[in-house]
This record gives sequence, structure tokens and C-alpha cells, in this order.
Amino acid sequence: MADEYDFGMVGLGTMGGNLSLNIASHGYTVVGYDLDEEKVRAFDARSDALKGVNSPEELMAALKTPRRIMLLVPAGKPVDDVIAHLLPHLEEGDILIDGGNSFFKDTERRSAELEAKGIRFIGMGVSGGEYGALHGPSLMPGGQESAYREVASILEKIAAKVNGEPCVTYIGPRGAGHYVKMVHNGIEYADMALIAETYDMLSRGLGLSADELAELFEEWNRGELSSYLVEITGKIFRRRDEETGKPLVELILDKAGQKGTGKWTCQNSMDVGVPTPTICAAVEVRVISAFKEERVQASKVLSGPKPTPASDREGFTRDMRDALYAAKIIAYAQGMALMKHASAEYGYNLNLSEIARIWRGGCIIRARLLENIRKALAESPDLPNLLLAEQFRNAVMERQDALRRVVRQGAEWGIPLLAFSTALAYFDAYRSEHLPANLIQAQRDFFGAHTYRRVDKEGVFHTEWED
Ligand code: 6PG
Repeated sequence: MADEYDFGMVGLGTMGGNLSLNIASHGYTVVGYDLDEEKVRAFDARSDALKGVNSPEELMAALKTPRRIMLLVPAGKPVDDVIAHLLPHLEEGDILIDGGNSFFKDTERRSAELEAKGIRFIGMGVSGGEYGALHGPSLMPGGQESAYREVASILEKIAAKVNGEPCVTYIGPRGAGHYVKMVHNGIEYADMALIAETYDMLSRGLGLSADELAELFEEWNRGELSSYLVEITGKIFRRRDEETGKPLVELILDKAGQKGTGKWTCQNSMDVGVPTPTICAAVEVRVISAFKEERVQASKVLSGPKPTPASDREGFTRDMRDALYAAKIIAYAQGMALMKHASAEYGYNLNLSEIARIWRGGCIIRARLLENIRKALAESPDLPNLLLAEQFRNAVMERQDALRRVVRQGAEWGIPLLAFSTALAYFDAYRSEHLPANLIQAQRDFFGAHTYRRVDKEGVFHTEWED
């Protein structure tokens, strides 16, 4: 079997296995390697086009050169360990692709280290979960462009297609691919938090049952909110627990997990100096949910209002839908603005319209809305913020009253709307000619002589505030 396999896969978990089958279904042969021999055996048995091996030597010998090898192992140390494990067996010109959710700064470091050794490295965001890996994910590859060109034909074949176009494009140098995947996940967190708050308002506030919620989400999924996350949410509400017959969602413990990509997006937005409050709120929503035991205790002593029935249920449901759409646009606007500034900061040269294009299919945040975002950014690539594009400007302005009513109702009902209220506050802050930062500047100057500038004359000023 020397030199005959087209592609190598290291890490034969669900994602690695499914992506390999996807690659094989397009006429390629894949050799797979994992330290777990059982996984290797299972991989080998899955298809004639797949071959499992138990050592890096066998892996290298089986592959055509220059070798094209994808790593699908958990982010962090396992990636460094696998690279160190393979490195002595690689040759100059070989291409390594890290398809995990690696932190982009790790990818920057690995790119430099591997490039110095003549190995070409691609850090590639892969979105779409297990199903996407098998049937077509959205792919965000970054690294040396020459390396990308050598794997482009395979990636284009395995990626999801929208109107016949593959959901993959060269993202940019070094860590650019993982950077964009990180922001994708930040938007994913925001989208999920907005949907979860919608659920809270409609079930705890309005008293809708799981079946009513399912119907509503199915209806919404046929309109402008059409998206993968709205679609699966409808399916979740439909699912009954086999044992109890109750809606399964109501039996799931309300403690959200996270692996870090949303948090990285928020942390990085602070580093780059771009506000992404709804993405950060979405991380906080998960963090506060994790304090379940403490919340249970607090609920016994901290009381608040109880939701009272809304007088116009249909009207409120429509408001909720419009508020969700407006807040979703605002969350996307934050993510896009972050990428725009990060592109300049890190020299990634990101094409935001192309990124919106490859997010239209395959990935978790795929949504009808993304085609409009793609168009808006293609028409005006230098747009400072999505909220300034005519279509989105109008869409949010037309729905802002609904968004305000929802946030007000949440406050009255005592239902926490971290994501919705930050979306509204971001919109209000961004459209404000004047913000109270003049007072902050005065305070800074008062206690720390940090100086301030004036609106009526040039220069830097300091006042002795205390007489
Ligand atoms: C995707 C998902 C995927 C994964 C996240 C979940 O785009 O396919 O984002 O990457 O499901 O890592 O992240 P959390 O565990 O942090 O929710």
C-alpha cells in the first residue's frame, strides 16, 4: 500500500471518522491513524476506501507525497502532542491540517514552528457537528495559500453546497481560519442565548406549552428567521421523554456547558477593542447557569415579580419574533465588526462577504439571513458595521419597538434577558451621537489626573476638581 493513499486522518473519533467517510465518498482513499487500536480497527472496517494503521511510520509510508494529513484531536495540548509525535516522520513540503477548534494564537505559534521546519500548516475551522462532517461541513482554512491550493479540490468536494457553491474559501494566513471559526462560535453562543431567552419569555412568561413552542418555531423557521438553530429548537420542543412522556427539554438540567470558543471571542474582543456585548452576555448566560445550587439557594431569599398573563398573547408572540430577528442581526453585526478590526490588527486580510457566503450552509449558524449579509458586504466591503447597511438598518429600525417591548416585559416579569438587553443597549449606544463618557472622563481626571479633551477647543486639559 506504499504511496497510494490520497489523504491521512489522525484522530479517529466521530468527527475524524465522519470526515474521512465524506472524503472517501468523493473518490479519495484515506489512511487513518489513532493511538486507540479499537478505533483503528473500526475505521478500517467502515469502507474499502479507508485503511487504518497503528503507527506514524505506516501512516507516512501509505501516503502520496507531499502528504496531506488532517488532525482531528481535542484542542490544546493534544494538538501539540500529536504534532510532536508525527514531526520526526514528516518531510519538507508535507501539509498538516488542524481541523479542531484550536485557539487561533496556538495556531499562529504552530504555523511559525512548523514553517521553520519546512512543514506547511493549515489551521482549519470545521463547523457542522457530526452530521456536517459526514454530509458537508462549512470549512474555514487559514495558513499558507500554496498549501491551501493543494488541498482546495478535496475541501471543495467535501464542503456543504449552497446554490452549487462550496462552503469553503481560503480565509487568510496563519491563524486566520481558526480566528474566524472562533467568531463563528461567538455568534453561535449569542444566537443560542437569544433563542433560550425567547423560550423563557414564551414558556415561563406567556405560558406556552412545548407543543405550542414547537409549532411556533416551525412557523418561524419558514420565514425570515429560517436557520439551523431555529429548526433544531422546534425539533427539541417536539421530543418527548420515552420514560415519562414529558417534553424532554423540561427534564434537562439547566446548567450549560462550554468548551471555550465563546469565551475566547469575548476575551479577544476586549483585546482588539471592539464591543461584542451580546456575545459576552451569551457566555455569561452559560456561566451563571452553572451556579445551579447557588441559584436554588438564592431563589429562596431573593424574590421578584411573578409573570402575569399578557393581555395580547398573539401580539406579544409577534413582538418576540421580531425582537429575535432584530437582536440576531445586532449579534451578527458585533461578530462581523470584530472580524473587520481583527483583520487589520492581525494582518488577516479577511473577506467578510466570502465568510458570510461560506456560513450560509453546513455550519451551526447557517441562516437565511446570511445571504443578505453576504450581499450587503459584497456591495460595501468597507462598511464599518452591518447596522449601517440599508437593509439591516431598516430591518432593525422597523423592529426596535418590538425589541424594546420585549426587554421591558422581561424586566416586568423578572425574566433575565442578558442577551436581548445587551443587543438593545448596543444598538442604542452605537446610534448615540452623545454618550455619558464625558462624565467618566471627568471622574478619571478628578481622581487620577488622567486629563480630558473638550468639545469646544483643541488640546488636553486637567482640572483641580477639589477646592
Ligand atoms: C460547530 C460547533 C462545534 C462545537 C462547539 C460547541 O461549529 O460545529 O461550534 O465546534 O459544537 O465546540 O462548543 P461549546 O461546547 O463551547 O458549546
